[in-house]
Amino acid sequence: MKPNVLSKLGRRTALPPISWLMQTALTRPKLISLAAGFTDNATLPVEISRKLLNEILRSPKTGRPALQYGITAGEMNLRTLTAKHLHKLDFQSSSSSFSSLVLENKSRTRTRTRTKDEDEKNYSPARVIITGGSQQLLYMTLEALCDEGDIILVEDPTYFVFLSILQSRGIKARGVKLERDGIDLVHLEKVLARLKKSGELHRVKALYLVTYFQNPTGATTSLAKKSAALKLLKKFERAAGHPLYLLEDAAYRELSFPGRADLPVSRAEPQLRPTTPPTALTLPGAAERVIYTGTYSKPYASGARVGFGILPEPIFTTVQRIKGNHDFGTANLLQQLLAGALASGLYDRHVAKVRKNYARKAAVMKQALAEHFPKNVEIWESGGGLYFWARLPKGISAGVKSKVFQAALKADVLYVPGELCYADDPSRAKPDNEMRISFGSANGENIRKGIARLGKVLKRFVR
Ligand SMILES: Cc1ncc(COP(=O)(O)O)c(C=O)c1O
Repeated sequence: MKPNVLSKLGRRTALPPISWLMQTALTRPKLISLAAGFTDNATLPVEISRKLLNEILRSPKTGRPALQYGITAGEMNLRTLTAKHLHKLDFQSSSSSFSSLVLENKSRTRTRTRTKDEDEKNYSPARVIITGGSQQLLYMTLEALCDEGDIILVEDPTYFVFLSILQSRGIKARGVKLERDGIDLVHLEKVLARLKKSGELHRVKALYLVTYFQNPTGATTSLAKKSAALKLLKKFERAAGHPLYLLEDAAYRELSFPGRADLPVSRAEPQLRPTTPPTALTLPGAAERVIYTGTYSKPYASGARVGFGILPEPIFTTVQRIKGNHDFGTANLLQQLLAGALASGLYDRHVAKVRKNYARKAAVMKQALAEHFPKNVEIWESGGGLYFWARLPKGISAGVKSKVFQAALKADVLYVPGELCYADDPSRAKPDNEMRISFGSANGENIRKGIARLGKVLKRFVR
């Protein structure tokens, strides 16, 4: 082999689409980007953060620990607050109560009473790790689980930066069809059975699901589907020869739209309670098989970049060791900022405001889509998150090299070509007639203008 200064991984790693999408957005000032998953600029918590940082830095006694290195797994205070926060979100959700869980299966409904022990085990701060965004945790989880040639099952389509990690690390992906309420379970079973038949099941390590207001489609996975998926994975474990994990990425979980976006936040409090399904952490056996990742980037500040996870063993210990090599701990100052926000209640108040704001922006986009998009473009609308998903009639490409994408760029509007969100899976062709459109960073006026520009472009190609 010809000598090369770069490692195999270094040579293999392609330019992640996220980099050139961001670059394009930043270098063309007239361009309206409906592509970036950036959070809303206007609602970033500047005043709250200033107040909390002032509080932290008010004296050497409180300031020094925040400006010092910390512990690899994260500040105990933030880990405890995070565990409590997740427990609260799961047990105030509409479809669960503190002591009992109703799991709706297609064929039957059964009630199972959780024990206090199970609750304490699943949401123990000792199982929580704090990371530099959930992106770092996803990366480290894959490092802990996968060798080159291993397989991760992903939704078709899925979060494209996750796919970039797989590409870089030489991990294979197999797509599982996605429905409006999560993955297609029949297809999941087929994919697992096919891998068993081809003798590849032992290479499968996990099923990756973006369970709330999915990036890119906006779909939310029901608890029943999470439960059934977990059972299916369990069913194939003997043949795999090792555990098959459910990797639940709940990045957009807290961005559900409140019921009434027209009320002022203070009066709307009761409606602002999350109406999202509980996480897979609430399911039997979760403590051994569910790897849960979450983030404070989306609900609080993407610039603070604090993520977290609840991990089973041996993943927790392994990821902690890997993090020891990555950075031996997330920035303490940022962890204390988040801890202060959570403990003071300012976090909850901020999230309520953010959710209302995204609901408003989504309504603006919905209206603009109805006005400007050709009627035969199928739109997936979400109950939260940052995205709409649009499907052009079959045969019309919206891919990176397509006339539609080039014409959109010329018209100074950017979207994410849907094809980027499909894994390289030789068992099926990649659809290229879809687009992810985000209302995350653009303001109301630019959402209207951007959709009008895109609509005009589409009308030239879609009849
Ligand atoms: C589905 C999903 N997971 C994880 C992340 C990572 O976010 P962060 O690293 O800011 O926590 C993102 C960011 O856009 C995302 O869309």
